[in-house]
Amino acid sequence: MVNRSRTPQRTQFVCRECGHESARWLGFCPAPGCGSSLPLQEVDVVARVGNRSSWLTGSGERPRELSQLASEDRSRFALPSEEFNRVLGGGIVPGSVALLAGEPGVGKSTLLLQLARYLSESGRQVAYVSGEESPHQIKLRSERLGFAGDGVFLVSDTDVDLALSNLDECQPLLVIVDSIQTLFTQDAPAGPGSVAQVRECGLKLLQWAKQRNVPVFLAGHMTKDGSLAGPRVLEHMVDLVMYLEAQDVSSYRILRSGKNRFGSTTEIGVFEMTGQGLVEVPDPSQALLAQRYERAVGASLVPALEGTRPLMLEIQALTSPAFAPVPRRVANGVDYNRLLMLAAVASRRCGLELGGQDIIVNVAGGFRVNEPAADLGIILALASSLYNRPLDPQLVAVGEVGLSGELRTVPQMERRITEAARLGLSKCILPENAQDDVTRTSEMEPVFVRTVRQALRASLGSAGKAGVSISEQEYERDIDELGFG
Ligand code: TYD
Ligand code: MG
Repeated sequence: MVNRSRTPQRTQFVCRECGHESARWLGFCPAPGCGSSLPLQEVDVVARVGNRSSWLTGSGERPRELSQLASEDRSRFALPSEEFNRVLGGGIVPGSVALLAGEPGVGKSTLLLQLARYLSESGRQVAYVSGEESPHQIKLRSERLGFAGDGVFLVSDTDVDLALSNLDECQPLLVIVDSIQTLFTQDAPAGPGSVAQVRECGLKLLQWAKQRNVPVFLAGHMTKDGSLAGPRVLEHMVDLVMYLEAQDVSSYRILRSGKNRFGSTTEIGVFEMTGQGLVEVPDPSQALLAQRYERAVGASLVPALEGTRPLMLEIQALTSPAFAPVPRRVANGVDYNRLLMLAAVASRRCGLELGGQDIIVNVAGGFRVNEPAADLGIILALASSLYNRPLDPQLVAVGEVGLSGELRTVPQMERRITEAARLGLSKCILPENAQDDVTRTSEMEPVFVRTVRQALRASLGSAGKAGVSISEQEYERDIDELGFG
C-alpha cells in the first residue's frame, strides 16, 4: 500500500512570469504565449500541496445540484464614480476579488485610496493593507486628496496570515491590498513577489473574501511590455482584472476591464490625474476635441465605440521619407499588424506611395482603438499626411477596409453618427451598405462610398487624384458615383 499521508519530497520548476510548471529545469519558459527568457525557478512541491480542500468553500464538500443552491443576494454597491462603476459592471459585488494592474506611478494607489474614500463616506469600514508605503506616506496622499481618512484602517503587516487575522478583528466591508507583490506567506518557499508567493497569497485572500463575502481589491504591478510581473497566475483566480493605463506624457488615465465575471469587458473609464488625485472625465469626446488643432495635417476623426459608449478619437498619422532600407512603421494605440495591412491596401488599391515612407500612427490622448471601424480613418490620416493636406475639420470617417480596398459597414452606425452630430461635426464618410442603418438628419451630411479610393476622393478631392495611379475614366466614374466633382 502506498502511504498517501506523506507526499514524497519532489522538486518542480516554475516560470516566474506565468507560473508554468515543468518537471525539469529549462533556461526559458516553454509555455505558448509566455516566452519569458528567465530560467525556470526551482520550488518544493510538498510545501505547495498543503491544504487539499477547495479554496472556495474551505472544506471537502459533497457535490450539490445547481437547482438546490439558494440564490445569493448579489446586490452591488454602486460607487459615486460613474467611470469606475462602468468598468466594474455597475458596482462592487460582495465577495468579489479584483486585481488592479498598472505600471508603477500610473495611479493605482491613488485610485484605491479614492475607492476607500467612497466606501468610508457611505459609512462602510475599509481596511487598507499596505506593504508598499508607510502609514505616513498614505496619510500624505490622503491629505493631497482632501480626505481625512475616517473609517479607513491601515494594516501594515506584509505577512498575509497576520494581515488576515488583523482583518478579522476590524471586520471591514472592503479590503484593499497594495500591492499583492509585497505580501508573503510562510507556506510558500520562495521570496516575496515570486510566482509561488503571489499564488499562495492570492489564494488565501480569495478564500478569505469568499468565506466572509467581503470584496477585496488587489493592486498589481505590470511590466512595460504589458504582462503582469509574476502575478499572471492571479488573472485566472480573481473575478475581475482591471488595467490602469496612461501614455507617457498624457494626464489621462484609462481604466480598462480585462476580465469581469460580473459584467462586460469592453467598458472603459476615463480619468485625469490632477493635483487632487484622479478626476473623472465624463465626456472624453468633448475633452479630446477641445484639444484638437483643426487644420492639422494627417489627422482624422473616428467615432469609435468603447463598450456602450461612443468615443470620438483623433487618429494622427505622420509619413516621412525613410532613410533606412526598410521603412519603419510605428503604431501607438492601433494594432501594428492592422496598420501594415491598411498601408498595403492604401498603396495597392489607392495608389498611395507609402513604400518609401516611414509611418507613425498615433491615437491622441493615449487612447486605443481595436475596432475595424477605425480602418478608414487611419487610411485618411495617412493620405492627408502624404499629400500634406488637412482633412475637413467637420469630417468623421467610419468603415472597415477589406483587402480589395472595399468598405464594409460596422455595428452601431447610428450611435456613432449621433455622437458626431452631438459634438457639432457635420460631415461623415460611410460605407455604402450602411445606408439603411443611418437615419438622415439635417445636421449631418453623409457621403456613402463603396471603396477607399472613393473615400479619398470625397475627402481630399483633387489632392487625392494627384497621387493616384488610376485612369482618368476610373476617376471620372468615381466622381460620378459620388455625385460631386
Ligand atoms: P500612485 O498612485 O502612487 O501610483 P502607483 O500606485 O500606480 O505606483 O501615483 C503616482 C503618481 O501620481 C505620482 O507621480 C504623483 C501623481 N499624483 C498626482 O499627480 N496627483 C495626486 O493627487 C496624487 C495622489 C498623485
Ligand atoms: Mg502604489
